Amino acid sequence: MAQAHRQTSPGVVWQDAAVTPPERAALIRQQPLVLWFTGLSGAGKSALSNWLSRRLHSAGLLTYVLDGDNLRHGLNSDLGFGAADRQENVRRLAHIASLIYGAGLITLVACISPFQAERDFARSLVAKGRFVAVFVDTPLAVCERRDTKGLYRRARLGEITDFTGIDSPYEPPANPEITIDTTDRTAAECGADLMAFLHRRKLLTWRVPD
Ligand code: ADX
Repeated sequence: MAQAHRQTSPGVVWQDAAVTPPERAALIRQQPLVLWFTGLSGAGKSALSNWLSRRLHSAGLLTYVLDGDNLRHGLNSDLGFGAADRQENVRRLAHIASLIYGAGLITLVACISPFQAERDFARSLVAKGRFVAVFVDTPLAVCERRDTKGLYRRARLGEITDFTGIDSPYEPPANPEITIDTTDRTAAECGADLMAFLHRRKLLTWRVPD
């Protein structure tokens, strides 16, 4: 997407950091990772990412949750829900995620991120194999029945426009690393699946660099 590949102004020179990401990773003895939770509003992205963050934190790992809703209260408060604004929202989240990843943390991102192009861009910013797309594939009917924030009702009444799944598109991820349907399942049950996946792929294992 054009937004994702914005040009840098001429005369802006990259400054190398004195302390590198591998050095930081060695200091805290953990491999950074980005876990990118995508899905409809009400699918369970925030609950699941926070459950996992708590679980990993308890295991002694440094984590950070970037939540689309929360970022929209501050840094992204200038953005709405048209396609261009969502692209910009996700572009910013992708960059912030890569910075926190670079700082060495297990970075959990929970945002609808409805378009494949921006999710691909987010993936492109971190090392191969260190980006896990978690498709929170809870059906629209279930999200709408939950309607935790009352937004689906308002969207159906036409009080809110551009609502994902109602009058704004959602492109399901092409190749997510893991798909989770939270229908009739608690965050702990779904989170256990995620933990099993992370262990199976050895994504939480710290290895002394060669
Ligand atoms: S994204 O599409 O740009 O990735 P993001 O995850 O940051 O969206 O924000 C989605 C949240 O904003 C939803 O969970 C919901 O609480 C709120 N929201 C308000 N208006 C809308 C809308 N029109 N479409 C989707 N979510 C909305």
